[in-house]
Amino acid sequence: MNLSTVILAAGLGTRMKSSTPKLLHLVCGNPIIKYVVDAVAALKADKNIIVVGSDNKEIRAALTGYPFTFAIQKKQKGTADALKAAVRKLENFDGTILVLNGDTPLIDPSTLQKFLKIHSRNKEDISIISFMVEGSNSYGRIIRDGKRVRAIIEDRDADKEQKKIKEVNSGIYVIKNHILKLLSEIKMNREKGEYQLTDIIDIAVKKGCRIAAHILGNETELTGINTREELYKAGHYLSNKIVTGWMNKGVSFIDKTSVFIHPEAEIGMDTIIYPNVHIEGKTIIGNDCVIYPNTRIANSIIGNSVVIKDSTIIESSTIKDKATVGPFAHLRPGSVIGSFSQIGNFVEIKKAVVGDGTKASHLSYLGDAEIGKGVNIGAGTITCNYDGEVKHKTVIEDNAFIGSDTQLIAPVKVGKGAYVGAGSTITEDVPPLSLAVSRTAQVNIENWALRKHKKGESNKLKNKKGGHE
Ligand code: UD1
Ligand code: CA
Repeated sequence: MNLSTVILAAGLGTRMKSSTPKLLHLVCGNPIIKYVVDAVAALKADKNIIVVGSDNKEIRAALTGYPFTFAIQKKQKGTADALKAAVRKLENFDGTILVLNGDTPLIDPSTLQKFLKIHSRNKEDISIISFMVEGSNSYGRIIRDGKRVRAIIEDRDADKEQKKIKEVNSGIYVIKNHILKLLSEIKMNREKGEYQLTDIIDIAVKKGCRIAAHILGNETELTGINTREELYKAGHYLSNKIVTGWMNKGVSFIDKTSVFIHPEAEIGMDTIIYPNVHIEGKTIIGNDCVIYPNTRIANSIIGNSVVIKDSTIIESSTIKDKATVGPFAHLRPGSVIGSFSQIGNFVEIKKAVVGDGTKASHLSYLGDAEIGKGVNIGAGTITCNYDGEVKHKTVIEDNAFIGSDTQLIAPVKVGKGAYVGAGSTITEDVPPLSLAVSRTAQVNIENWALRKHKKGESNKLKNKKGGHE
């Protein structure tokens, strides 16, 4: 079949009450429009068009790399006007056109495939995907005359009886090329000031065209997002579907309602995920891991049997097998944590490679650092990587021991097996196997406290005698 697709994505989305274009709002980490574009791209049509407004930088940026042609609708004058903007890009196209709203992110590509098959088998001029709804709604109603579709009436234009109709329009249509010329016959809806694509049905019916609506998919799959509440519901629906999918592959969840996993993420068997965990972007988590509560992992690779303790943030980093990270740790982009390593309470790591079996258990900042194997980083160690202008590197070689409360003024290197005494400020390289200490020698003044107390007493006496000071 000679197929073109058109996604209508130029609407202002005023019902979202947002300064962000509606279709760029996120559902499980991806913009609404990306899901629709993915579903359409899976059809491998001959031509894909997406209708956007004049202010379209952000939407174009969100869709880089997709085989889509952008058509511009200068003023948002309704869905029929949006399709007209695409027609200019369809000149000389002779075939079938799939038209979709851009705000239907839960659409399954297999529903679209089924729909296209039905359309070509039935030789219809216009086919519509419809679905059944419960309760009040703002969708266009499918008006039938017996079995035949006679019109689509928008909710706001419907009378009391029409409002009761439960079969509604999904905003997904397949039309034959010749139907496009009827677009010019659509009159402006006075109340809304818009040209409504749905009015084409009545016009086509009067011309004797073959039109049918097919109930394919349900209210959830075909939901069109207009409001924040619908956005919220779609996010939760998709999240639940993703979490259930991982459960079926052997992942345990303590509370699936508070967990968010992006569609691109992967989780290995026997991993246990506690409440309020967010796994974002292209994160890959191995087998047998435990991820404790209030943790966010974005675009990271976690090996097998890794334990992430409570309230930890991991961004664009790698953690190797059997390492432990957290609680309250922050791995900033570019960090690599070796096998069996322990990164503990209140430790921040940035662009640092930490070797196997190394421990930094408490209150440290390790940035722009290369840390070897079996290193012990004492509590309160800080790599002073920034001189106010540029960043410098700290190298700590295998089996070195860094005493607590050490500042390493980069660029600096601590050699293999060397020791740094607690409380040191290290400004020069420490040779392997040596001890570096840089603190003032301790002085003990005997009986100092006694003398101080005596002085205090004589002062008190003075005050008593003298009354006010
Ligand atoms: C539309 C349908 C309604 C259907 C519902 C399904 C019309 C008139 N109504 O209503 O029958 O039940 O979808 O979800 O078509 N857009 C543009 N340019 C515009 C206006 C809209 O590109 O000038 C785009 C929007 O970005 C959106 C899509 O068209 O992706 C639908 O517009 P929207 O305003 O959401 O239509 P609904 O009122 O939901
Ligand atoms: Ca809509």
